[in-house]
Amino acid sequence: MRAAALKLAATTPEPISAYVYDLAALDEHAAWLRATLPAACELFYAVKANPEPRILETLAPHVDGFEVASGGELAQVSARFPQVPVIFGGPGKTDSELAQALEAGAEVLHVESRSELERLAWTARSRGRVAAVLLRVNLRVGDLPDTPLTMGGRPTPFGIDAAEIPGCLAWLEQHPELQLRGFHFHLLSHQLDARAHLRLLAAYAEQVRAWQSRYGLTTDLLNVGGGIGVNYRNPAQSFDWSTFCTGMQALTATLPGVRWRLELGRFVTAGCGYYAMQVIDLKHNLGEAFVVARGGTHQFRTPAAQGHNHPFEVLAVDSWPHAYSRVELAGGLVTVVGQLCTPKDVLARRVPVGRVRAGDLLLFSLAGAYAWNISHQQFLSHPAPQMVFLAVDQGGPVQQEGTRREELC
Ligand SMILES: Cc1ncc(COP(=O)(O)O)c(C=O)c1O
Repeated sequence: MRAAALKLAATTPEPISAYVYDLAALDEHAAWLRATLPAACELFYAVKANPEPRILETLAPHVDGFEVASGGELAQVSARFPQVPVIFGGPGKTDSELAQALEAGAEVLHVESRSELERLAWTARSRGRVAAVLLRVNLRVGDLPDTPLTMGGRPTPFGIDAAEIPGCLAWLEQHPELQLRGFHFHLLSHQLDARAHLRLLAAYAEQVRAWQSRYGLTTDLLNVGGGIGVNYRNPAQSFDWSTFCTGMQALTATLPGVRWRLELGRFVTAGCGYYAMQVIDLKHNLGEAFVVARGGTHQFRTPAAQGHNHPFEVLAVDSWPHAYSRVELAGGLVTVVGQLCTPKDVLARRVPVGRVRAGDLLLFSLAGAYAWNISHQQFLSHPAPQMVFLAVDQGGPVQQEGTRREELC
């Protein structure tokens, strides 16, 4: 990763910004996730976390399918990966997106409201189709963990209030054009505590068991969403996947005959991505040290979106091709900013660094999810970052796509 970023910087005297993806690491990570999950579980990838085609290509052999949340994601995935099962969720689906999902052969649709259920029934009926559905449920859970991204357990636009589910079930009985496969829950993201996550999933299972016995349901699918977090503040303390898988072994046994589907995003791809910014300027301003680097939050919005100092390291670039002198800071606390004319363009605030010079590279790790694709890319019309993919079978050579396409080795 470091070598690839340094090689890229050496190709031009202009400061660079780039995403570097380690596809070999992603391949290994996805294979491990899949291999360690209990047999009753399925691993889907939430495409919204990072829809780069090279990422999806790497994941396709390892996952049971892709979860998409828009007509755009659906079109991309069904055109490129017709053999991979796709499930369609997300709020505010239009009639044409519902129809698109049926035409594309989506395996199951996650329904977000009673009226969406009725629109889907109408769409299926008018095409002579039967649509498989999961009802997405918003459920009040006793000790819902407090994470920065809570999407349920309290009033939110997501899912159907659990109190409305009996009415939906009665309605579904009269509508054979919809086949109820089960329920979908995604109450939060950024979960860092494996045991707390298991407790949450146990609460979903308990609710499903209650509905199964009360209404004589024979549903065979439980989608427990995504939400497993990445510890940006303390990367050494990550989510304990082994404890989670051991707990899932016991939990899945509580609902015999049911497939447990996970649709993970961040936990799958965050680790394979790096964002590199080359330092343009260094200065003190009213007592604080600032590092101003190529790019910014319009390319890498993750820290601004989540409100954390993003972890990075300084890579020394020894060549200095310029006639003017090189500014440097000997170390101390610095605030890292990008090129935007807004005080919000901060990637890390008052963090300790060693020596840093103009021309050095800052390499941010954990940049492979909700990063480039959630950024306000057009702001100020700066050039896009370069996109570098270290391929699975290359063992070192760098392939580059995006703004420039030549081979770098
Ligand atoms: C319904 C749903 N499923 C899965 C995900 C993926 O979540 P994460 O990336 O936290 O695993 C999201 C993210 O917003 C979501 O809304």
